[in-house]
Amino acid sequence: MQPILQILQDKLNKRIEEGLYRELKDYSEFCDFSSNDYLGFSRDQNKLTHSGSTGSRLISGNSEDIERLESEIANFHQAESGLIFNSGYVANLGLFSTIPNRGDTVLYDELIHASIRDGIRLSNADSFSFKHNDVEHLEGKLSKFKGNVFVVVESVYSMDGDSPDLLKVSEACRNFGANLIVDEAHAVGVVGEKGDGLVAKLHLQREVFATVVTFGKALGSHGAIILGSEVLRNYLINYCRSFIYTTAPSPETIFTIRKQYDKLTKLYATNSDEHNLALELKNFFVSEVGTSRELIMGDNGCVVSVIIPGIENVKKVSKNLISNGLHVKSILSPTVPKGTERLRICFHSFNSVEEVKKLIDCLN
Ligand SMILES: Cc1ncc(COP(=O)(O)O)c(C=O)c1O
Repeated sequence: MQPILQILQDKLNKRIEEGLYRELKDYSEFCDFSSNDYLGFSRDQNKLTHSGSTGSRLISGNSEDIERLESEIANFHQAESGLIFNSGYVANLGLFSTIPNRGDTVLYDELIHASIRDGIRLSNADSFSFKHNDVEHLEGKLSKFKGNVFVVVESVYSMDGDSPDLLKVSEACRNFGANLIVDEAHAVGVVGEKGDGLVAKLHLQREVFATVVTFGKALGSHGAIILGSEVLRNYLINYCRSFIYTTAPSPETIFTIRKQYDKLTKLYATNSDEHNLALELKNFFVSEVGTSRELIMGDNGCVVSVIIPGIENVKKVSKNLISNGLHVKSILSPTVPKGTERLRICFHSFNSVEEVKKLIDCLN
């Protein structure tokens, strides 16, 4: 067992000894004197199904269905287990505020998502950034710390659309005994043999400590899951405040997430190239624009940023695109570093070549 998992398991064992261990149970067949469904609005007339989850997972909001979905999704991504959260934001907030402790260190890519930064802020661990996608810089930092070190990267960065060299990052973590966490928000659905993300594509499932998958992007729903070991799952159930103290996702949400995973599985199972359409449009755009514009992107994912420095400049271009019926958002500093203000263009399978040509024309 990884040392960090042993630490987590020891704390769980202590809780068991103290009689304080939290476990998810399904009370749906019981007479309800514990949920928050005060007016019975979550029940249908026959009292057989619920529209709401009626409470937190540890009180009344758990169900066989949600636990089954967690293991189905874990299987899909070839992880040992998974725990569903209400959004990617609260998943990251919970993960980073719960797992790294006083004396631990979190090393994060300087472009890491705000939800991870906020989670780190809530934790008692020390934290340091490393230069974007710079494995040597990361290694330099890794050599300085002892104890539990966590390294966090995104598999496709939300603003730059690029990816780290995940094999190298993972190797560095292995060499220095650090624990790797990967946020796959912008990779799942569009990266990997079945849209299962970059970690699965590179067969790194057993190397990472945790993966965060969100359902609000390519999966077209909302919510998120933290994938990792069974020990991690049990630990989060026991200690993660953004899991414990909130109403569970509704049965409708669970139904929709399952439906979307089925859709994804079917999409990749067909011989058609449909799952590649967004990527093809992105590549078409990049080759047509050529060197006439400064572009930032990577090989994975569907995001391309067109750099237009200066807040007023980029706002003007975005306004022009919008007046032509093209919804392209400008991203301003401080969301991105000053001088790298940009248009963030997301390509979708439902966009057409004509639309992309119009976009290029308007940009010119
Ligand atoms: C990399 C990354 N992680 C996490 C999140 C948060 O996910 P959610 O929108 O489900 O809260 C986002 C959303 O923008 C993101 O881009």
